[in-house]
Amino acid sequence: MGPGIDAMRWKSPVGGRMTRAMADPLFSPFSIGLLHLPNRIVMAPMGQGKAPGGMPDPGYAGYFARRAEGGAGLIVSGATSIDHPAAAFDENEPHFHGDALEEWRRAVEAVHAAGGRIMPQLAHAGLQGLAPVAPPWPGIGPSAVWMPAAQLGLEAGPERIEGEPMTLADIEAVVAAFARAAADAKRIGFDGIEIHGAHGFLIDQFLWARTNRRKDDYGRDRARFAAEVVAACRAAVGPIYPISFRFSQFKMTDYAARLADSPQALEELIAPLIEAGVDLFDCSLRRFWRPEFEGSTMNLAGWVKKLGGRPTIAGGGIGLAKTAKEYGQDGVYATVAEASIAHLDEVRDRIVKGEFDLIALGRSILGDPAWAAKVAAGAHETLQPYRPEVLMGLN
Ligand SMILES: Cc1cc2nc3c(=O)[nH]c(=O)nc-3n(C[C@H](O)[C@H](O)[C@H](O)COP(=O)(O)O)c2cc1C
Repeated sequence: MGPGIDAMRWKSPVGGRMTRAMADPLFSPFSIGLLHLPNRIVMAPMGQGKAPGGMPDPGYAGYFARRAEGGAGLIVSGATSIDHPAAAFDENEPHFHGDALEEWRRAVEAVHAAGGRIMPQLAHAGLQGLAPVAPPWPGIGPSAVWMPAAQLGLEAGPERIEGEPMTLADIEAVVAAFARAAADAKRIGFDGIEIHGAHGFLIDQFLWARTNRRKDDYGRDRARFAAEVVAACRAAVGPIYPISFRFSQFKMTDYAARLADSPQALEELIAPLIEAGVDLFDCSLRRFWRPEFEGSTMNLAGWVKKLGGRPTIAGGGIGLAKTAKEYGQDGVYATVAEASIAHLDEVRDRIVKGEFDLIALGRSILGDPAWAAKVAAGAHETLQPYRPEVLMGLN
């Protein structure tokens, strides 16, 4: 389908009475429990690293509010570090504890004033942050195995034996820190939380056999740590507060990595997370059109939804020209990605078929805060591309 086919295709079968946007699957409402979203468009979590010493820049409030004003149905903050000494990815990652919480409260108020909804992404970098290379951060992980991070400009692989394997007391402390962050998020008015379980961060280090070599229960059952984090967050926020879990097969240090090679293996990983209280899986795909397993065109978000019965978000490459580099590819932040609506009808079709429910926009919505409003109005030709300069400030 070409870019000329726009949302007009999605006119109401009864005709006439509905606006174009209302009849468009991208702009149909969706609910996660009691959280009502006006459309299917989610601002993907994107850590901007504008928090020297962990204190979020005051510009975050306006940065998120502009995306709410621009029509994003749900905003997920970039990774924020929970209250644990080894949690931060680097010294500029916003904290989600202490004085930083007041700044986050301002961001929530600004988003709500603009009519939007927002969740913080709660994270622990484990051995993937700067911890192993930049003392005084004590790097910890499931085992003392980590892969040098390509995105930090280090040579990829071979694996290194560094950092500390987590003790049971470490595990308990990290789980408790996630739960405190979840309770704080609810207290200061966020609309839900997202737990960062993707891209090789700490929780993903437990999920992945390559970094989890433990011989105890956390190694025999690689989903156990993640499930404990989810369960503790669920206990902290009560039964109806939305919990999203970000999930990926690939790692920042290994784009070909897979947690699960078959639907059955995937089901084994996600079932305990659902049992523990996940409401929504935010599946990070790099390319939304890539089939996950042989014999089906469904992507990872489709499989997670089919196997788990929970709603899913699909994100990766949406709103960008197919020639744009994939997220995770070397230099992705520093490369212009042109806006394109060429594949939006395919996205709509997949939503209508029930493959996934929501879409996460990364670079598209960084480049154009009004992406959703423009697409709803059919003003595609005015969409702005992603340009690396937008990362210079909180634009
Ligand atoms: C500047 C930047 C920062 C990012 N930071 C995070 C992050 O903190 N947490 C996360 O889960 N993903 C992060 N991502 C990945 C995005 O959420 C998204 O999955 C990725 O950009 C692919 O989507 P896109 O092709 O629409 O850009 C980041 C991406 C970019 C471009």
